[in-house]
Amino acid sequence: MLSDLLTRRTVLAAFCMAGLSLAACEKKAEDTPADPKAGATNKPAPSDKPAGTLRVGFSQIGAESDWRRANTESIKGEAEKRGIELVFADAQQKQENQIKAIRSFIQQKVDVIAFSPVVETGWEPVLKEVKESGIPVILTDRAVDVSDQSLFVTFIGADFVEEGRRAANWVVKSTGGKAMVAELQGTPGSAPAIDRKKGFEEVIKAHPDIKIIKSQSGEFTRAKGKEVMETFLKSSEGSQINVLYAHNDDMALGAIQAIEEAGKKPGVDITIVSIDGVRAAFEAMVAGKLNCTVECNPLLGPQLFDAVEALSAKKSIEKRIVTKEGVFEQAQAAEAIKTRQY
Ligand code: AHR
Repeated sequence: MLSDLLTRRTVLAAFCMAGLSLAACEKKAEDTPADPKAGATNKPAPSDKPAGTLRVGFSQIGAESDWRRANTESIKGEAEKRGIELVFADAQQKQENQIKAIRSFIQQKVDVIAFSPVVETGWEPVLKEVKESGIPVILTDRAVDVSDQSLFVTFIGADFVEEGRRAANWVVKSTGGKAMVAELQGTPGSAPAIDRKKGFEEVIKAHPDIKIIKSQSGEFTRAKGKEVMETFLKSSEGSQINVLYAHNDDMALGAIQAIEEAGKKPGVDITIVSIDGVRAAFEAMVAGKLNCTVECNPLLGPQLFDAVEALSAKKSIEKRIVTKEGVFEQAQAAEAIKTRQY
């Protein structure tokens, strides 16, 4: 088994600082079964980590976008750099796979469970099981909608509502407050789809001549972004669309193809703003096909493992750790692309 009792007690004590009583935590630690058999989505091999090495179970959503791939690399790379054992499970966009992985992490008695929840709701039962086990939970990238905030220690990630506001403010500025907007939403029920819509609508409320005339999910992927944009353009309102707001760069990049195939000029006939700031979006801006990208930083590995190590050292950590991000326009793209890390 990977955790020696001392390491386990240290992490448990830190979790207790975040909500559980130490006695309850220690009791749970002793009660936890020794050797789990159930597998996560990607069944991890049994490990012989040296005593004292931290072991973290991480359930990733999948690989739907360039952002997600950069996020996975950041987490894997940082764990390796710090000598932390990472038990990684790819949920392939399914909440049920994430729940299975989390249960498997409990059985394996990892020191910390971290995950990026595919959707916001439906986590309460499994998070209660984790709490019972005494293992601390860190949320990265996306939030969960739970009434009991003690079910997780911290949430590390961007402010998605603010990203939506930033995108809308840019639309207001660049259109003079007059636009017929098509919106490509992210995965239904996911925090970024809900919040980016909310932030955008909050700002445009004060601008009655900015109207969202088409809105549908493109599931955060290029293929679906292209497909949905094609249907938007073919619809009866298609010819009126002069702004595209995409909840991520990948969908905007797919939509750019659809716009070109429809004989229009992306970035000119249709002004495009999206979110993430991945390298391909900068390339599209340099090519004049995308007008603005609102940054959402996927490089969360360092902050995640800072939190893991802080927990292990019994240091207190913030309940909410917000990542810092900017907004990039075409004019800045050629210079900014030189230092883009993802
Ligand atoms: O949760 C972050 C979002 O998920 C990114 O904006 C998107 O590209 C990803 O798939």
